[in-house]
Amino acid sequence: MYTEKVMEHFKNPRNMGEIPDADGVGTVGNPVCGDLMTIYIKVKDSRLEDIKFKTFGCGSAIATSSMITELAKGKTLDEAMKITRANVADSLGGLPPVKMHCSNLAADALHAAIEDYYKKQKEVKK
Ligand code: FES
Repeated sequence: MYTEKVMEHFKNPRNMGEIPDADGVGTVGNPVCGDLMTIYIKVKDSRLEDIKFKTFGCGSAIATSSMITELAKGKTLDEAMKITRANVADSLGGLPPVKMHCSNLAADALHAAIEDYYKKQKEVKK
């Protein structure tokens, strides 16, 4: 039912944790199940220098969190904004249909963290 890649990321999640002095933080909740995901980013020269996640959710949510940190790390902010919900699920070799909603959190939380970064930059410039 789950691909090997999903199981592997679930068992050995990459970049799990928090960045205490993060430049941007994005938290989203899943309306379907109530699970929560937070993404922390460090930005240098418009690139994601570091990224970590904390997820209170199911195995698929943890696997997608882990996968999105790998997809996004080192990318420019513009490139990271273009990572879609479908990209995350595809990179894991797909998710069971009833678990597709779990992959939504990862892309949404990443985008929210980047928006938070832009918002903070504007506040600094004021
Ligand atoms: Fe909630 Fe998967 S069941 S994110």
